[in-house]
Amino acid sequence: MQHILQIIYLVSSVTFILGLKYLGNPATARKGNLIAAFGMVLAIFATIFLYTFNEDGEEKHLGNLGFIFGALLVGTVIGWMIAKKVQMTAMPEMVSLFNGMGGACAMLISIIEFQHLAALSEESPFILITRAGGNITGHLLAIILGLIIGSVSFAGSMVAWGKLSGNVKDKSFVKQQFINIGLLVIILILGYLVVFGNGENTVVLFYATLTLSLLYGILFVLPIGGADMPVVISLLNSFTGVAAACGGFLYDNKVMLVGGILVGSAGTLLTIVMCKAMNRSLLNVLIGNFGGGASGEAATSANFEGSIKEVTPSDAAILMRYAKKVIIVPGYGLAVAQAQHVVHDLELLLEAEGVEVKYAIHPVAGRMPGHMNVLLAESNVSYDKLVEMEEINPEFNTTDVVLVVGANDVVNPAAKTDPASPIYGMPILEVENAAHVIVNKRSMKAGYAGIENELFYKPKTTMLFGDAKKALSQLVTEIKALG
Ligand code: TAP
Repeated sequence: MQHILQIIYLVSSVTFILGLKYLGNPATARKGNLIAAFGMVLAIFATIFLYTFNEDGEEKHLGNLGFIFGALLVGTVIGWMIAKKVQMTAMPEMVSLFNGMGGACAMLISIIEFQHLAALSEESPFILITRAGGNITGHLLAIILGLIIGSVSFAGSMVAWGKLSGNVKDKSFVKQQFINIGLLVIILILGYLVVFGNGENTVVLFYATLTLSLLYGILFVLPIGGADMPVVISLLNSFTGVAAACGGFLYDNKVMLVGGILVGSAGTLLTIVMCKAMNRSLLNVLIGNFGGGASGEAATSANFEGSIKEVTPSDAAILMRYAKKVIIVPGYGLAVAQAQHVVHDLELLLEAEGVEVKYAIHPVAGRMPGHMNVLLAESNVSYDKLVEMEEINPEFNTTDVVLVVGANDVVNPAAKTDPASPIYGMPILEVENAAHVIVNKRSMKAGYAGIENELFYKPKTTMLFGDAKKALSQLVTEIKALG
């Protein structure tokens, strides 16, 4: 029976790897998700029905099937309903919430397994020396790592969820970085004492480690604001993966180990890619309190030269219809307005008139990694039209018209020119190099980072005010009218 179980675990592990591979491309992402989900269901049911263990010399199967299936049912129904209902723009909140649940699982596993060990302690539940005379160091190490990483991930994800849904505000206080580093050092020392100490007060040390790890998770995410949230979410995601891998060590469960390591490494890679895209160092993320704005005053509209110039849909249509090359920059506003289908109509229409059309994709445009790719894939925009930032930036100076739709921070020149700006250093789409820039948004309000944008005041820029879906529909109508 155990051989069959191991083979099923191997099959599941392969489905996870295949799933990740397919997730790398929007065309195959749905298939990838389904394959990996199938592997996970297989692994869960195989564990429930085939896993056996020895107790009192007897080989036993898992018990408590009523509880297990009850929990599975409740979790599946809740997860299904939330995932069905969630708006694309609220996806990062959902990712944070689900990620937090993963961290909480790892934390609970550690607490429960630690209690098993404490219950086996020969002297007192507060003193934990050996487990029936055996060596428990490895076991304790996996428990304490799962506890620290899982609880940081849980608490951090909950704060991230609160912040993304607007219920928790950014908060930093004096010497935050030093407090965070100090807290981390104390947690590591306590964790070391739990595993390698003389066994006295282990239970107290264990729960102190848990409490401080939860506190660290909160303090680590609380001050992070503006443009830096996506990096944190991805980092917390990788934490949860590593915490789950600790569970794999604990139970000697290969599929849990592989799954955890895959999530951990994929999350770490994504974190590194996003750090690079936003020009942040990983160390800053770990210490916390970054992206909250550099010292000094960021430039405001009062300091900008030039003025706001509005363009009518018919003038914008003429500019685009008679251009040779148009680049569309999609941003968060396009997602909010659900304008992905009409932007595709606009693209097809322009192409039919002989205009070359491309989309410029900034790595953090929108509110989650790959947000724009997913959105545009939904309306069947061809993937070869989606061009990444590094590739498209040199193309702007040979472009007649750039149409920015509901994007703001990702085209803000302050990232290059204003050292006092919170987004200073973040690479941007250099749209100002094109001959004309048309910006569609509803008002002069700031974007996610909460800062003003000098691009809107440049001589080349004209503003097409209005909801993205409505404005793009007007453009389509006007271009059609031009014949
Ligand atoms: P933002 O800078 O947030 O700007 C979006 C703009 O869209 C706003 O200025 C808003 O202006 C406009 N808008 C909102 N609803 C609209 C509608 N219905 N029609 C037309 N316009 C509308 O977006 P971005 O340029 O895509 O930059 C993304 C930002 O989010 C970055 O700061 C990034 O760091 C952050 N972020 C990204 C992620 C990931 S991983 N992608 C995750 C979290 C945060 P009005 O209100 O005037 O219309």
